Amino acid sequence: MELRHLRYFVAVAEERNFTRAAERLHIAQPPLSRQIQQLEEDLGVALIEKGSRPLKLTEAGQFFLAHAKPLLDQVRDLKAMTQRVGKLERTLSVGFVASTLYGLLPDIIRRYRERHPEVEVTLHEMTTVEQLKALKEGRIDVGFGRIKSEDPSIRRIRLRDERMVVALPSGHRLAERKEGVRLRDLIHEPLLVYPKAPRPSFADQVLAAFSEANLTPDHVTEVRELQIAMGLVAAGQGISIVPESVLGMHHRNVVYLPIEDDHAFSPVLFSVRHMDRSPELENMLAAVYSIYDDMGLRYEMGRL
Ligand code: BEZ
Repeated sequence: MELRHLRYFVAVAEERNFTRAAERLHIAQPPLSRQIQQLEEDLGVALIEKGSRPLKLTEAGQFFLAHAKPLLDQVRDLKAMTQRVGKLERTLSVGFVASTLYGLLPDIIRRYRERHPEVEVTLHEMTTVEQLKALKEGRIDVGFGRIKSEDPSIRRIRLRDERMVVALPSGHRLAERKEGVRLRDLIHEPLLVYPKAPRPSFADQVLAAFSEANLTPDHVTEVRELQIAMGLVAAGQGISIVPESVLGMHHRNVVYLPIEDDHAFSPVLFSVRHMDRSPELENMLAAVYSIYDDMGLRYEMGRL
């Protein structure tokens, strides 16, 4: 059994159709069918129920699929990490969600660069969902994001929980308040959430905070990204809910107030490939915690 048999079988099982699987694999259908037949002969069991449309897996097929997928993930990780180890110059590609750029990310990257000038650091703005794909494809080595995922090929460390704040246009009836607001004070306001895609995203975290409080906002508009949401708030088109870091954005005509509900928090997550234990990652984690210490922030220390 070769790795290509696993790849072909996973494509057929996921697409539930030989034609679509062949297209996805960029091969013709007859050789794909032959390879699956060869695999079944080699294993001595049927993996696909004969004549089923759409295609159905046998019990053995389901078992094989469940184990083949993590194996392929490991092979892909192994490739990305071996390429990393083999490189003479040390590099670290960092994916980050936009909100962190207005908060602690610049301090953390500066600290890391001061401590490790020999490492070439590159930064790439992307959503958490995009980070997971980029990690698996070896395009980034670490992602700073906000959305939890159950992907077994990714290791996640929850760095801290960050309070959500509401961004209001200056002159808004709530903007003069000295104390914070509750989510229930916001349900009749036009709410701008971001990013529209890919999902799940911070937009879902904000909507989940309302539903956890048994509330439904009246008017929700999804916008492409944080910067658009904030521009629209400044223009008086609505309000938005953002992590506290965004206070660093200093937008003219925008006022921020803390949200006082107990669960109105967004986590900051550190994600890496499951097998990756490179010193660059340990050092990046140490840079994060040293900035937290300097800022007097509360956190629970995680390990790679
Ligand atoms: C934070 O805000 O906690 C954070 C931001 C960027 C990278 C790591 C942590």
